[in-house]
Amino acid sequence: MRKKIIAGNWKMNKNLSESIALVEELNILLNKQSLNCEVIVCPPFTSLLSLAEKIKKTDIKLGAQNMYFESDGAFTGEISADMILSVGCEYVILGHSERREIFKETDELINKKIKQALSKGLKPIFCVGEKLEQREANITEDIVRGQIEKGLEGISENDMKNIIIAYEPVWAIGTGKTATPAQAEEVHVFIRNLIGKLYSTAIAEDIVIQYGGSVKPDNAKELLSQKNIDGALVGGACLKADSFMGIILGV
Ligand code: PGA
Repeated sequence: MRKKIIAGNWKMNKNLSESIALVEELNILLNKQSLNCEVIVCPPFTSLLSLAEKIKKTDIKLGAQNMYFESDGAFTGEISADMILSVGCEYVILGHSERREIFKETDELINKKIKQALSKGLKPIFCVGEKLEQREANITEDIVRGQIEKGLEGISENDMKNIIIAYEPVWAIGTGKTATPAQAEEVHVFIRNLIGKLYSTAIAEDIVIQYGGSVKPDNAKELLSQKNIDGALVGGACLKADSFMGIILGV
């Protein structure tokens, strides 16, 4: 049985005191519950160290939203794998559509970042997904295949055990338009089969594939009940403790 994993991508929201307040609230809510899933929070870099302290005695795991592929050096404004590890991160989101779109990250760059993260012991949450015009042109599978094949190029079967894939249709991110559970499940099956072809049935069966894109407490349960949806990568709805909790309890 695959473990379900719910991750909150805070994006560029919450200063330090707001971050602490949100996690404290979340801790109180989580404390009262027995959970069926793993919970990850991915706050901005500036909050990671303080939140690592706040979640030390809880089951919440910490992730960063990005990192650079070089180990160190003259890369003004960038953050290395070692730096985020040193403040308590276990996970790092890579290949998010906002990074691809706004910051022009290519599949090749994302591949370098994934390799670096894995080599340093971080677990990438590797995001893929098609844009609206691509879905309408019926090329969703081609787009997702290309992103996965290029993003995972040269990554060993053993390293695949430490990767989460997040399927996030770009047209569903922050728009309030969710893929229907059937639409999401269809792409998740496609991704799992593709991983089976690229690696092995065992890797395909074990890999966690999250869905992301306007996941809310009122649609989470149905999405998460699909056979191949193993969790969620949540944006907007993770910024309030009660709505993030509502999603977690949907597992
Ligand atoms: P959303 O964002 O839940 O606000 O749509 C999801 C994401 O970008 O990871």
